[in-house]
Amino acid sequence: MKFLVQLILVVSIGAGCMLAQEIKLPSNPLKGRIVFEEKGCIKCHSISGFGGNIAPDLSREHYYGSFLELASIIWNHIPKMNRKYRELKLKRPSFSQSEMLNLIGFIYYLRYLGEPGSVSNGRKLLSDKGCIVCHDVAGSGGKKGPDFDQLQQFASPLYMVQAMWNHGPAMQEEMRELGMKYPSLNGHDIVDITSYIQQATIGNIEIRMAPGNPVNGEKVFKKKQCHNCHSIDKKGDAIGTDLNTIDLQKSVTEIAGSMWNHSPVMIDYMKSESITWPEFKGNEMSDLIAYLYFLGFEDEPGDPINGEKFFVDKGCIGCHEAEVGIGPELSKMKRFNSPIRMIQLMWNHADRMDDLLEIKNEEWPIVSTKEMQDLYAFLRNVTKQK
Ligand code: HEC
Ligand code: HEC
Ligand code: HEC
Ligand code: HEC
Repeated sequence: MKFLVQLILVVSIGAGCMLAQEIKLPSNPLKGRIVFEEKGCIKCHSISGFGGNIAPDLSREHYYGSFLELASIIWNHIPKMNRKYRELKLKRPSFSQSEMLNLIGFIYYLRYLGEPGSVSNGRKLLSDKGCIVCHDVAGSGGKKGPDFDQLQQFASPLYMVQAMWNHGPAMQEEMRELGMKYPSLNGHDIVDITSYIQQATIGNIEIRMAPGNPVNGEKVFKKKQCHNCHSIDKKGDAIGTDLNTIDLQKSVTEIAGSMWNHSPVMIDYMKSESITWPEFKGNEMSDLIAYLYFLGFEDEPGDPINGEKFFVDKGCIGCHEAEVGIGPELSKMKRFNSPIRMIQLMWNHADRMDDLLEIKNEEWPIVSTKEMQDLYAFLRNVTKQK
């Protein structure tokens, strides 16, 4: 059975639907930024150098992972964080489920934006990749394609990608005629190229990338018929790659680059299947890519038996044993219908738990991602249905 991101179809399908939807996609991942500030995380942590310097900067590469992976990183640091809260006399925040989802969604999203591009490398790439054979930028280059100067109003990496995608088939024709090799774009290439075009045409104005709406992106994915050839269920029975198996530990432009790199093959396939090349307008490409990026937010299903073992071995049972424990009996709780709820409750009670453990002189239970997934599978089973 599919586990998490069973997508936010609830809204359109309404009550009574049978979809096992457990984590909703955030429709605007930047909402979590507000939570991050309002709940005071920013007092100690910074994002790209902006914020407190008491604790690690959370925009570093290290913080990439599924919902429960990020949640376990946070969990494992709770005792030290608690100590800081006390030391600085800050109130420790609690979270609602949606705040928890938005917060962790935001941390997940930080890598999406990637790092700023390198202007000098972008300039080099335009000639290394042969773009200037056909495109003119700042007065030098070929004339077969449109001048890049005209691109100014679009000069953010995602608009660039969208324009390249839309014109992909025509560009490919030209390249064939000239006997050119199809240029592949990897890593930071697209960001670097965009930075150079911005620099060369409009100067140093920072153009913010539209954040992309994963919920709309899912619709775009269907509307553009991507699902005709691509699955996301990891069953591996589709013509194209299962997009949930590609390396999603990438920034948005790397995903975009991989679409570009595969587009010659896709173009041929589409021709043979008589599918017209789908063009993108407005925010469609950024929404689509945000959706693909968020496929990696989903957790693998855990094993309830290992989860139970964990619950016993790591001492949860010590306080949560039926009747005798000082903590509530979890099997009497309302069913855990999503891992967000588990993490929300665990975070909210971590303060009390930390105190009690200190009194008992016991260690804080460190949890790996796998263990967190197993724990969820276990608690989901033991908590009551209604
Ligand atoms: C009072 C200061 C403080 C506040 C407020 C705070 N943290 Fe922390 N946080 C810390 C400290 C200190 C550490 C490092 C703990 C350690 O080294 O084990 C940490 C560690 C972390 C880590 C792991 C860092 C790593 O390098 O592995 C994450 C993730 C994190 N915090 C997220 C949050 C979030 C989300 C919030 C807001 C709900 C928050 N923190 C609020 C002090 C704070
Ligand atoms: C062989 C010639 C050729 C090469 C090489 C080439 N292009 Fe193009 N490009 C074109 C043509 C022709 C068009 C217009 C296609 C159309 O009309 O649909 C175009 C269109 C574009 C557009 C859309 C412009 C707009 O106004 O919307 C972008 C962006 C673009 N190319 C980027 C690149 C980049 C980046 C490279 C290098 C990786 C590159 N092109 C290499 C011929 C080329
Ligand atoms: C007609 C079939 C077809 C359609 C429709 C299609 N693709 Fe593809 N796609 C493929 C094939 C085949 C490959 C593998 C190409 C290769 O191996 O070079 C591919 C590769 C990709 C890759 C690279 C995967 C990797 O391994 O890194 C991405 C990303 C991708 N497609 C996204 C999309 C998106 C988004 C859409 C919808 C706009 C789409 N595709 C529509 C057939 C298709
Ligand atoms: C030292 C005692 C202690 C340990 C160990 C402990 N808990 Fe708790 N737990 C409590 C107490 C006490 C509460 C009641 C909530 C509160 O007072 O904050 C609680 C509440 C909870 C809740 C929320 C229940 C509710 O009604 O809101 C969850 C979920 C939970 N614990 C899970 C765990 C898990 C999972 C572990 C093992 C990793 C664990 N606990 C370990 C003492 C403990």
